[in-house]
Amino acid sequence: MPEKSRKILVSNALPYANGSIHMGHLVEYLQGNIWIRFQKLRGHQCTYICASDVHGTPVMLKAREMGLSPEDLTERVTAEFLRDFSDFGIEFDNYYTTHSPENEVLVGEIFETLRASGDIYTKTIEQAYDVQESMFLPDRFVRGTCPRCGTSDQYGDACENCGATYTPADLIDPISVLSGSTPVKRDSEHYFFRLSRYEQRLRDWMQSANLEKSVVAKLEEWFEAGLQDWDISRDAPYFGFRIPGTNDKYFYVWLDAPVGYAASFKNLCARRDDLDFDEYWRPGHETELYHFIGKDIMYFHTLFWPAVLQGAGFRTPTSVFAHGFLTVNGQKMSKSRGTFIKARTYLDHLHPAHLRYYYAAKLGPTIEDLDLNLDDFAARVNSDLVGKLVNIASRCAGFINKRFDGQLAAELHAPEMQARFAGAADAIADYYERREYSRAMRTVMALADEANRYIDEQKPWVMARDEQQLDTVQAVCTQGINLFRCLMIYLTPVIPGVAEDARSFLQEQDWHWDAAGTPLLGTTISPFRPLLTRVEPEQVRNMVEQSKQS
Ligand code: 2FM
Ligand code: ZN
Repeated sequence: MPEKSRKILVSNALPYANGSIHMGHLVEYLQGNIWIRFQKLRGHQCTYICASDVHGTPVMLKAREMGLSPEDLTERVTAEFLRDFSDFGIEFDNYYTTHSPENEVLVGEIFETLRASGDIYTKTIEQAYDVQESMFLPDRFVRGTCPRCGTSDQYGDACENCGATYTPADLIDPISVLSGSTPVKRDSEHYFFRLSRYEQRLRDWMQSANLEKSVVAKLEEWFEAGLQDWDISRDAPYFGFRIPGTNDKYFYVWLDAPVGYAASFKNLCARRDDLDFDEYWRPGHETELYHFIGKDIMYFHTLFWPAVLQGAGFRTPTSVFAHGFLTVNGQKMSKSRGTFIKARTYLDHLHPAHLRYYYAAKLGPTIEDLDLNLDDFAARVNSDLVGKLVNIASRCAGFINKRFDGQLAAELHAPEMQARFAGAADAIADYYERREYSRAMRTVMALADEANRYIDEQKPWVMARDEQQLDTVQAVCTQGINLFRCLMIYLTPVIPGVAEDARSFLQEQDWHWDAAGTPLLGTTISPFRPLLTRVEPEQVRNMVEQSKQS
């Protein structure tokens, strides 16, 4: 039965605009992009938004170092992001910036609503201050000796050696990363959000949001420890939105970043008649809202964000989908090993479909880490995509093109097999929906094995020598091409570029998920051109070499 059409709004985490997109980011953008493409292919109204996350101290300082305004720096970085995303087939319905008028208005509105209901209060706190630079220092900008284990040169919030967490004031011999001077302690008034009031409402939200087990476990841990009120302000100088009614206080970047999801959508609504802001962001509508994020920013998305939304009279996310970190060859990405690979460096050497498929083949719905093993990557892509999938078409297309003028037979040779391939649609759709991509890929590849076995058994190349058997050759090759087509439709969310080439080779206008249920018969196909090349070990070596150098 066809599913009822859904209205879905999806975001990826907004990339911070002070660096480049790398293989780690791509786990998330590809996970989200595959899901979105799947929903669109199913005919749902699915809107995909993103933006550059541009506020905060790191961007401000980096811009200063480069002699640019923060606006200019983040515009440059955004242009680079967009090229990388687009070349990986990641297309957003709207890509915006958090430094936008829409965002400033929304953040202001949210703040005023929270303040009016008593959810905001001010309190004076003591913080590390750099006298030379005349600024308060974020924890990460103070370094010193760990008070617990004595390891030198540790950040102001945690020790990399023993794992202790603390505040910069606890460090022994602290220094400011900016000036090298010893920070002093100074008082400042900050704005706090009463997160502590929200425990019950957050527990209710957690029950309804269908969160993955490991995410729920993390939330339980946080509830257990007790929810602390949240400091949502920062002192000037700061690149961000000024807090109304103050001269020198700004909203902390982590307050306005998620609001950037709504602002990006609002910006899109202004040019799309079919989208209504309130339908997606106010309670009481049938729309769905999902955020794809990394496990490191769960606290922001499963506690602060739903609480702020509730308090301000907005709807809460239908669910939040968290993923794990990326390791390369079993270890943390490393510049010296050449495994800190930027998106652009990858694209200089390899095809986006290779990575899209590999990540899909390894991704599940949990926060488990994902390993990009470069040898396994080459082997897997070559065996599955090139050896199994594309091979089905290349074994059959030649006969159809040369012997039958590109014309497919009017009937299938193995209709029961076709029915089995079409019948897999629901199971595969279910895997995509639940973000069980690795299972979806295994199912498709098992069918690809079957299709190849069928061609092996039928041996069209033997029959083709006998004029009497030409009809069978045409029927068998038509069958093979239809099996290939079915699998290509299923893989469209994962390898959209390759699927598009396959569709145009089959001379079809466009594909809907359900097209897999109707075979292609009696029509003409174009000459077959290889849809994808193999991953060569040398390409991988060169990519690693280039990453070492950059
Ligand atoms: O972790 C990050 O890189 C943040 N820039 C993600 C922000 S997601 C959202 F809240 F905007
Ligand atoms: Zn330590």
